[in-house]
Amino acid sequence: CSSGNGFPNFRRKPVIIIVVGMAGSGKTTLMHRLVAHTHIKNIRGYVVNLDPAVMTLPYASNIDIRDTVKYKEVMKQFNLGPNGGILTSMNLFATKFDEVISMIERRADQLDYVLVDTPGQIEIFTWSASGAIITEAFASTFPTVVAYVVDTPRSEDPTTFMSNMLYACSILYKTRLPLILTFNKVDVAAHQFALEWMEDFEAFQAAASSDQSYTSTLTQSLSLVLDEFYNNLKSVGVSAVSGAGMEAFFKVVEASADEYMDTY
Ligand code: GTP
Repeated sequence: CSSGNGFPNFRRKPVIIIVVGMAGSGKTTLMHRLVAHTHIKNIRGYVVNLDPAVMTLPYASNIDIRDTVKYKEVMKQFNLGPNGGILTSMNLFATKFDEVISMIERRADQLDYVLVDTPGQIEIFTWSASGAIITEAFASTFPTVVAYVVDTPRSEDPTTFMSNMLYACSILYKTRLPLILTFNKVDVAAHQFALEWMEDFEAFQAAASSDQSYTSTLTQSLSLVLDEFYNNLKSVGVSAVSGAGMEAFFKVVEASADEYMDTY
């Protein structure tokens, strides 16, 4: 393999897609849609669920943290609250993650994508040691990308948009993996405004200037800072409900995987 990642046996397939998003962004619905799309289009997918606390998943997973770690028992045994329970469950699972990687490696020739669902409390995955261990285990074995799910209608407000982009930026810096801004719910609000704001900071500043508050001034200054961040990003508009944008999503994933092979 001629990629820059330095691992001699690094494969081009499967591509790992780690799906993260703020609560309510539509992550679960989108996972469901992506899984359905792979079935319809005969794309060879594999599904990993890393959320120990989810009660029911609307789609079938091939590897499920809940089969190994019982979240409620972890809470009881270690006398933890809900977030501590999720974190400790992930820590326990991370110690066995080499087995997950081996399982995927054994099937690598028959797989195009591995879709990875993460806990609803995004920071538990993005800011924990176990989240970092799991991400690195994937990324040192397969091309790995992060799909950051954005609630598009909620982001029409410039200040909310900026907060969301800063969070995405922090994930990019933390994981150092190709990040795909996945603008969800485009059936409710098209993501054109976001593309314009990302391409032209003056357009964003004009939108933000209608609000004279302190945060608006800060928002305008930050838009200059984020200009460089946007240059390194790929984005796509999707609707988990209508199914719009699925082909485009997988195209962007492929482009990001190529970028991974060239850069990492
Ligand atoms: P948590 O389970 O809290 O982490 O939320 P989540 O990010 O997994 O979101 P979920 O999939 O539960 O969706 C949240 C709400 O958004 C639900 O009411 C969904 O029906 C709705 N939703 C998700 N995707 C879309 C979409 O593409 N379009 C529309 N109109 N609604 C959506």
